[in-house]
Amino acid sequence: PQSTVDDRSTFDLVVAANRLPVDRVVDDDGTSTWQTSPGGLVTAMDSVMEGREAAWVGWAGDPGESIEPFARDGVRLQPLALSADEIRDYYEGFCNGTLWPLYHDVIVQPHYRRSWWAAYRRINQRFAEAIVEVAAHGATVWVHDYQLQLVPALLRDLRPDLRIGWFNHIPFPSVELFGQLPWRASVLRGLLGADFLGFQRATDAGNFARACHQLLGATRTGDVVSWDGADDDRSGVPRRVRVAAVPISIDFTSLDQLARTSAVRERAREIRASLGNPETVLLGIDRLDYTKGIRHRLRAYSELLADGDVTPTQATLLQIATPSRERVSAYRELRAQIDAQVGRINGDHSVIGAAAVEYLHHSYPKEEMAALFLAADVLLVTPLRDGMNLVAKEYVASRWDGGGALVLSEFTGAAHELSSAFLCNPHDIAGLKRTILEAMHEHPAAKRKRMLALRRRVRSNDVFAWARKYLAALEAAPAKPGAS
Ligand code: G6P
Repeated sequence: PQSTVDDRSTFDLVVAANRLPVDRVVDDDGTSTWQTSPGGLVTAMDSVMEGREAAWVGWAGDPGESIEPFARDGVRLQPLALSADEIRDYYEGFCNGTLWPLYHDVIVQPHYRRSWWAAYRRINQRFAEAIVEVAAHGATVWVHDYQLQLVPALLRDLRPDLRIGWFNHIPFPSVELFGQLPWRASVLRGLLGADFLGFQRATDAGNFARACHQLLGATRTGDVVSWDGADDDRSGVPRRVRVAAVPISIDFTSLDQLARTSAVRERAREIRASLGNPETVLLGIDRLDYTKGIRHRLRAYSELLADGDVTPTQATLLQIATPSRERVSAYRELRAQIDAQVGRINGDHSVIGAAAVEYLHHSYPKEEMAALFLAADVLLVTPLRDGMNLVAKEYVASRWDGGGALVLSEFTGAAHELSSAFLCNPHDIAGLKRTILEAMHEHPAAKRKRMLALRRRVRSNDVFAWARKYLAALEAAPAKPGAS
C-alpha cells in the first residue's frame, strides 16, 4: 500500500542507506510504481521496522527532482534527490571511484579528486538533515555503509539526543591502505559520531580501531574506542564508541522454502536440460565487479579445459554477471575484458551444442536465482576481497536437498563462518584448479556432510538474528551488552 504522508519528526527508528528499499518501475504508458528491491538488507530492516514508527531515508536511484515521501507497509520512505552532477561526483565518483576500490585492497587504483570529496561531504550533510527532520526525540538511527560515513558526526552535532549506529557492509582496510585517503581524519571523525559501529569481521573492526589510534591518537580498550575529540583541526567533545563484528546474513527460511517449491525444482531441471544435462554444472553469480574475482575464475576454468581435466560435454560453467555501476570506467573496462575472455574460452574449447562457458550479463528475480542454485553442482565464489558475500549463504540456504558444493574464497567475510566450504585463494590459479576439481569429485557423502554443516551455520545466524544482535549492541552502547 502506498500513500503520501506529511507527518514529521515522529519516527523512533530511522534507517538511512544510500538507496531506498524500493526501485522505480516505469510502465509502457509512462506511469511509475515502486517495487521492493531485492536483497537481504530490505528483508532484515522490514523485520526490525515492523510494529515501530519507522522511516527510511535514501536515494531513489534516478537523477532529478525530489519525490514526495510516501508510505510502504507502514514505513515512511523519505526520498533524497541527487542531481546528475551529484550522482557523478558523489555516487560514481567518491563512493565508487574512491572508497570502493580503496576499501577493497586497491584491486584497481582509487582516484582522489577534491571535487568528489566536496560532493560526498555535501550529500552526507543532506542525508543528516533529512534524517533529523523525521527522527523523534531520542530516536534510534541506523546508518548503512561506506556511502554515509560522515553522517554519524553530522547527526550528533545536529541532534545529540539520537542513538546513532552505523554498519559497514564492506571491508574496512588496514591503516596502510586507508592512510592513502587525503581526507582520512575527516572520515574517522565522521564515524566516531556514532554510539556503535558494526563491521563484518573482527579484522575490519580492528583495522578501524588501529586507524583511529594511528591517525587521531585514539585508544582502544576491549571493544571501546576512546578519543579525546581533539586533533589538528579542532578540539571537540570526547567520544567513547563501541566497535564490534556483527556479520550480516540472509533470510534462510524463506529461501529454503522457495527452493523447495515445485515450480523452482521444475525450473532447476529445465535449466540443466537446456545446458544439455552435463554431469557437472558449475555456477558463478556476481555483480559485475572487479572485486569478485571473475577473471581469476575464468582463467582457472580455461586451464582445466586446456589440460583436459574437464570437457564441455561433461561440464558447463554458467556465469551470470549482474550489470552494475556501468558508468564507472573500471566497470566498463572489466566488462570488455570478461567479454573477450569468455569469447576466447568458447572459441578455443566449445564444441557444437556444448558451450564451455554460458555467459549472461543480466539480473534475475529470486525464483530464478533459487532454481539456478538448485541446478548447480558447484558454486564458485572467488572474490579477491568481499565484505561478506551473501551469494554464498544464499546457495547454502537453497540446498535443502543437501546437494551441491561451495568453493569459497578466503578473502570473503563468509569464509570466516563457512569453514566447511572448499576454501581457496583465487590468486593461486593452480590451487584454485585443484579446489574446483576436488569440489567436483569429492565423495557424495563427504560433500553432503559439508553442505549440512554449512546449512546449520547459516540457519542459526540468519538475517533476523543479525539485525537483533546489531540493535541490542546499539542500545547497549557504549557499555557492552550483557555486561551489567
Ligand atoms: C554493495 C554495497 C551496497 C550497494 C550494493 C549495490 O553490496 O555494500 O551498499 O548498494 O553493493 O551497489 P550499488 O552501487 O548499485 O548500490
